Amino acid sequence: MSVDVLLGLQWGDEGKGKVVDYLAPKYNVIARFQGGPNAGHTLEFDQTKHVLHQIPSGVFRSEAKNVIGNGVVLDPIILQKEMEELQKKGVDATKNLFISKKAQLILPSHRLLDAAYEQAKGDKKIGSTLKGIGPTYQDKIGRLGMRVGDVLRSDFKELYRLRVEEHKKKLTASNYDCDLESMEGDFWKAIDFLRTLNLIDSEIYLHDQLDLHIPILAEGAQGALLDIDFGSYPYVTSSTTTAAGACTGLGIAPRHIGEVFGIFKAYCTRVGSGPFPTELHDALGEELRKKGSEFGATTGRPRRCGWLDLPALNYAVKLNGVTQLFMMKADVLNGMDEIKVCTHYRLPDGSEIDYIPYDLEAEEVTPVYHTLEGWNFDIDVTSTITELPDSFHRYIEFIEDFVKVPINLVSLGPKRKQTLLKEDSLLASG
Ligand code: GDP
Ligand code: IMO
Ligand code: MG
Repeated sequence: MSVDVLLGLQWGDEGKGKVVDYLAPKYNVIARFQGGPNAGHTLEFDQTKHVLHQIPSGVFRSEAKNVIGNGVVLDPIILQKEMEELQKKGVDATKNLFISKKAQLILPSHRLLDAAYEQAKGDKKIGSTLKGIGPTYQDKIGRLGMRVGDVLRSDFKELYRLRVEEHKKKLTASNYDCDLESMEGDFWKAIDFLRTLNLIDSEIYLHDQLDLHIPILAEGAQGALLDIDFGSYPYVTSSTTTAAGACTGLGIAPRHIGEVFGIFKAYCTRVGSGPFPTELHDALGEELRKKGSEFGATTGRPRRCGWLDLPALNYAVKLNGVTQLFMMKADVLNGMDEIKVCTHYRLPDGSEIDYIPYDLEAEEVTPVYHTLEGWNFDIDVTSTITELPDSFHRYIEFIEDFVKVPINLVSLGPKRKQTLLKEDSLLASG
């Protein structure tokens, strides 16, 4: 038995939450391996919409165990709030949630540092979600971080004070005006709550599950183009969002990775700053934002919208070793006469490249588009991929030919039910 990995191939918000929830019945364990509450994963079923930030998207499936792995950064305040919200909806996550003692803790001062660093960057700000992600990973790599397991130590408070004194010095040096004390009441309550949960050595738990041949799905957050190494640096997040992150973020050896499901929207979106070659600054961009309800699930910010970028998708497919593609939000393009996809970038000297240049921000690239016929069909009465119009199939085939990986799932709406699987795919038969 192996661990299947599901991750975003663009700049996040591809629809990972929806698909993890859809696939969860095939798996006994769903495990988040990186990122933290910067994620906003939306699930929709039974006329209700749920947004998860910290908890894996298997939580609504009562048989699934949900693991927050060592690669994650955990904000105890957000976790407690999320669990209380779930409780109100009749979902008791306590029994089926397992948190790695090696996951890093986001402290209130990490959130303040995030805001201070952004303020100092001025025009060059990353557009961070301000959840303290960067500063927490900074402390982790600097070997200064506090881990979830530390909450069980009798000297936890002293360790916290030492760490926070260092943070305060940095905040003072940044001239950042803040009131840390007012945030600490909620923090201590959340730490007490955290102590009541299942805090475990999650890598050992997962090894045991593997030995027992229990199917595991690793749930990515953000997307390949926000990866700390391979994203549009410095406009990235601070973790490894690619498949390799599932190994380090869960303690799973590469040989145990099975399928790699890569999710992408039929177009592109990005929230926050940074280069986005196919961004549409016109009425069409606005139409995509409106039809696709493209507003951030974590911050509510409008998402920037544009055409599908195949050089970028191809790069993400290669970085992750994607074995199956899932195309999301194809319904948003329904009714358009023609649809464009970027196949190359043109450089100022007129030459064309089909890969992302080293510094996409500095390089003036102009997208070169291929135009395909659009589609228009009644989504509500379409229940199989074969029923989709020819022009839709041509769009799928064009993408498959470019990236050389099959598209085995097509999503036609935010609801669980609005999901079509290719009849002969591994998932359909598995
Ligand atoms: P995630 O971060 O990858 O889980 O994605 P988000 O939840 O941040 O953003 C995806 C948004 O698109 C959510 O509002 C989903 O409910 C919605 N969504 C997912 N799949 C589809 C789809 O196929 N069509 C439409 N119209 N919306 C979708
Ligand atoms: P999900 O899991 C979209 C973006 C932020 C910002 C950059 C750095 O829902 O797909 P950070 O707070 O991580 O320091 O922000 O990354 N970003 C996301 N964009 N979806 C996400 O998560 C994101 N998480 C972070 O907007 O540009
Ligand atoms: Mg999201």
